[in-house]
Amino acid sequence: MIKKAIIPVGGLGTRFLPATKVVPKELFPVLNKPVIQYLVEELVDAGVNDIVFVINKEKESIREHFSPNKKLENILEKREKNDILEGVKRTASLANFSYVEQSEPLGDGHAILCAKDEIGNEPCVVIFGDTLVDTTPSMVKQMLEVYEQHEASIISVMKIPKKDTASYGIVSPREDGKIFEIVDLVEKPEPEKAPSNLAIIGSYIITPSVFEELMKNPSSIDGEIRLIDGLNLLKEKEKIFGCEIQGEWLDTGTVLGWLKANIHMAMKNENISEDLKEYLKNILQT
Ligand code: UTP
Repeated sequence: MIKKAIIPVGGLGTRFLPATKVVPKELFPVLNKPVIQYLVEELVDAGVNDIVFVINKEKESIREHFSPNKKLENILEKREKNDILEGVKRTASLANFSYVEQSEPLGDGHAILCAKDEIGNEPCVVIFGDTLVDTTPSMVKQMLEVYEQHEASIISVMKIPKKDTASYGIVSPREDGKIFEIVDLVEKPEPEKAPSNLAIIGSYIITPSVFEELMKNPSSIDGEIRLIDGLNLLKEKEKIFGCEIQGEWLDTGTVLGWLKANIHMAMKNENISEDLKEYLKNILQT
């Protein structure tokens, strides 16, 4: 049973500047909860309780979010805001959190390598800090089920319009179906060169051998160490499987994606959905 996860949050969030100059994109709210808390709750719900964040000096606020805040708790207690107090207390006790530092943003693969000692010699889940998918059972549960069958590294993918392949990592499947062996991973191919329309969404299970491959410094054109390059080396030695997820992909790392995520979740929230529908209807009419 997989118990550990890495959430790398050491990136610069350049697509969201200047908002990310001070506030990490992983702490942006979707309704009243930071994106990253949805991910933590999804992991815990799937039985993955040991969560390693890869942070840097500018992302200490993520550690603070998942730590107790006694001053705030005392005020809420005095004001008898019990429901809110429970919510605040809960964030600090959701899981066993640990933190490792990535001194420079040298790529998502480099960030994952920083967590190697915390994980040890066992498989773990990796979720990028801006990857929300609304699906049932959850994305993490679906990946864990595939892991139980194959005991290999797993990559979550979703179908995208072929014209958009140049924005994503694209996998080449050996066979048709929702679960398949991956024969190749291509970073941001033009549509005419893309081997499929199955895009990597930023959620994985990795075996310990992935760390070995990342340590070989598989360097992309820009010099960053990327997980995709490590997985490309790995596939020469171990099978890697794709797990096609069906659901609503809420990529909160882009302005439009984040906005859509808020609208999507608001529509599912009975306290605000009716008012929001009314508001959107009025906008669309004018
Ligand atoms: P992204 O490319 O989505 O995030 O990396 P980014 O680099 O922060 O954003 P942009 O592209 O500049 O807008 C995927 C995940 O890997 C983490 C990011 O925080 C994100 O969760 N990451 C990326 C690191 O932890 N370290 C890095 O050096 C790069």
